[in-house]
Amino acid sequence: MRYRTLGNSDLAVSAIALGTWGLGGGSVWSDHDSTEAEARNLLDACRDHGINYIDTAPVYGTGESERLLGEALKGRRHDFVLQTKCSLNWRNEGGNFHYSRDGYTVNNDTRPTAIVRDVEDSLRRMQTDYLDSVIVHYVCKGFPVSDTVEALERLKEQGKIRAYGLSNSRPSDLEDYQANGGHVDLVQEFFSILSPFHGREYFTACKPHGTTFQTYGVLEEGFLTSPAFLDRTFVKTDIRSRIPWVQPEVKAGLRRAFETWEPIRAAHGCSFSQLFEAWALAQYKNMSLLVGMRKPANVADNAACLDLVLSPSELADMEEAARPIQVEVLDK
Ligand SMILES: NC(=O)c1ccc[n+]([C@@H]2O[C@H](COP(=O)([O-])OP(=O)(O)OC[C@H]3O[C@@H](n4cnc5c(N)ncnc54)[C@H](OP(=O)(O)O)[C@@H]3O)[C@@H](O)[C@H]2O)c1
Repeated sequence: MRYRTLGNSDLAVSAIALGTWGLGGGSVWSDHDSTEAEARNLLDACRDHGINYIDTAPVYGTGESERLLGEALKGRRHDFVLQTKCSLNWRNEGGNFHYSRDGYTVNNDTRPTAIVRDVEDSLRRMQTDYLDSVIVHYVCKGFPVSDTVEALERLKEQGKIRAYGLSNSRPSDLEDYQANGGHVDLVQEFFSILSPFHGREYFTACKPHGTTFQTYGVLEEGFLTSPAFLDRTFVKTDIRSRIPWVQPEVKAGLRRAFETWEPIRAAHGCSFSQLFEAWALAQYKNMSLLVGMRKPANVADNAACLDLVLSPSELADMEEAARPIQVEVLDK
């Protein structure tokens, strides 16, 4: 494993981070509800492969992902860099409506009181007294950035958080936070061979601030893990039934792209997951690669992507095959 410094913080994080949206299960990751034993096994696999960086959020499984992590982290909290999010809550205390699901109304609230409550709720669910990193889950325009920055900086002074970042944001939001006295150590944004434009715009914005760019969705929720995955179907509440790759014409385009990608994969004797992870890592130096994993076998497979080096012509051919179905913006 390789380790990097998160933004301008003093946190040393593995180049690959464990994403735990799927760990929340429920109606959004509907094929499996993980157990405490599975969560422990997942963290065991991360430890064995040097992955020390974990990402979660309160809304993943409406608290379930955080709760399972809290159980799995017992006795080894300090071995991991734990990152969660704030701003999306289901406490019915106002804010901007975000979505309703499973009887919960989730609002987006970046006011100081909400941010502080979010952090307290996450600390309680994960049975810890500090969070290494907290990300504003959906940057929203409704409330003053200066107030949000002040709240995050105070939480840092109090030792409750050690770093913070932004997500579902634009480069202008990063500028705004920095201009208001913020110290944004990372941005977490979607980026994959199927949707690379937003990320590329952000690479240049991150550099002057020393902000880490962290990608999510590099495997497009599984759609880039194998052509066979395209045959799977999901209930309509599942995230994987709501992304562009399920549309018949787009899926047909993705199948054609796999025909180009297959010989490149075979030449390296790697998995498709490793191929797209290596592609992403080649696009930007020191990118933090956040991959969703529920299975220890996937942890082992993904950890090995760091050894895969693709030639410039392979990288170009891979993207050329993706071009007909690339999309500008994704909202997950
Ligand atoms: N800030 C935001 O708004 C936002 C939005 C989306 C995601 N995220 C974060 O980013 C993380 C990653 O995104 P994601 O989980 O949505 O999607 P992803 O990383 O693109 O894909 C995850 C899927 O790929 C499968 N997978 C992973 N490695 C594999 C391998 N080596 N072989 C075969 N299958 C493999 C996983 O299977 P298993 O689960 O069965 O192991 C899972 O179903 C999330 O978990 C979350 O922490 C943040």
